[in-house]
Amino acid sequence: MKSHTLLMPLDMHLHLRDAVMLENVAPLSAYSFSGAIVMPNLVPPVETAEDVIAYKARIMAAVPNDSFEPYMTLFYKNYNKAFLESVADEITAIKLYPAGITTNSEGGISSFDVEEMRPTLQAMSDMEIPLCVHGETDGFVMDREAEFMSIYELLASNFPKLKIIMEHITTKEAVDMLDKFDNLYATITVHHLILTLDDVVGGMMKPHLFCKPIAKRPEDLDALLSVALAAHPKVMFGSDSAPHPQHKKESCGCAAGIFTAPIALQLLCEIFEQFDKLDNLQAFVSDNAQSIYGICPEFKEVTLEKRPFVVPENYSGVVPMYAGETLSWAIENVD
Ligand code: NCD
Ligand code: ZN
Repeated sequence: MKSHTLLMPLDMHLHLRDAVMLENVAPLSAYSFSGAIVMPNLVPPVETAEDVIAYKARIMAAVPNDSFEPYMTLFYKNYNKAFLESVADEITAIKLYPAGITTNSEGGISSFDVEEMRPTLQAMSDMEIPLCVHGETDGFVMDREAEFMSIYELLASNFPKLKIIMEHITTKEAVDMLDKFDNLYATITVHHLILTLDDVVGGMMKPHLFCKPIAKRPEDLDALLSVALAAHPKVMFGSDSAPHPQHKKESCGCAAGIFTAPIALQLLCEIFEQFDKLDNLQAFVSDNAQSIYGICPEFKEVTLEKRPFVVPENYSGVVPMYAGETLSWAIENVD
């Protein structure tokens, strides 16, 4: 049977939530990933050193002993330097959301005034704290990411030493930015390597495939595949696995977010094998992220096999992508 081994897989964009949801979903990521960049969009958001420390402790309590490293983030505000110095040791990055653009982002930034942001961003640059960005404007839904490119240009050119990560990119415009600025990087989800808008709303509407940013056009999918499959050194895997209870997805007013954590590596094997690029998967799911973030995860070896895997209908009340469907790769063993 065909098998493929991945060392220290990393999920560089993950929503773990809190309380019972955290207890249900964190072990699923901890099983197959060495670590993850944990998003701070809780209610209320993670904004202080105390919040970060307490949230990390709750995550550690939810996963089996020492099996997983949560790389913590802070919710971006125009923080001052003294505050950043006090919190720097507790965090791996800071996550910036435009206000109201996605789930739990109401407290985000409403104006991208570089001078207003300069003290914070310059301090982050000096202290080598990466900035992760949800790059969408409030424009027409299909254009939101492309419209945000001018803001990435503004940030990247004003702070050339600041590492800026364009999170969950979905467009060829974002792919093109990677080679324009040395300090721009990107995460790509597994669902955006599979879906276009047609899959979400082209036939019957599929709430479990609805997320922000929404999946785009075939040419965008091709652009994302080209850099992911080549394991472009500035691109990392970040699932953006975003669990919501089933009733919040299957409702009038569907919450944005696709739950992929337990099926992500299986799907990635399927995609990379299909394009005969399995050899590049290691860089995409771990090595690139280690170099970009300068992190050194604990040893973990995940072996996948090419055999049918039926995706569970739900995980403790959360419906995953492809629930009930059969994938062609399964996790065989984790050491
Ligand atoms: C995320 C969530 O549910 O927290 N939703 C999503 O559609 N991706 C937030 C985000 O990353 O935009
Ligand atoms: Zn997200």
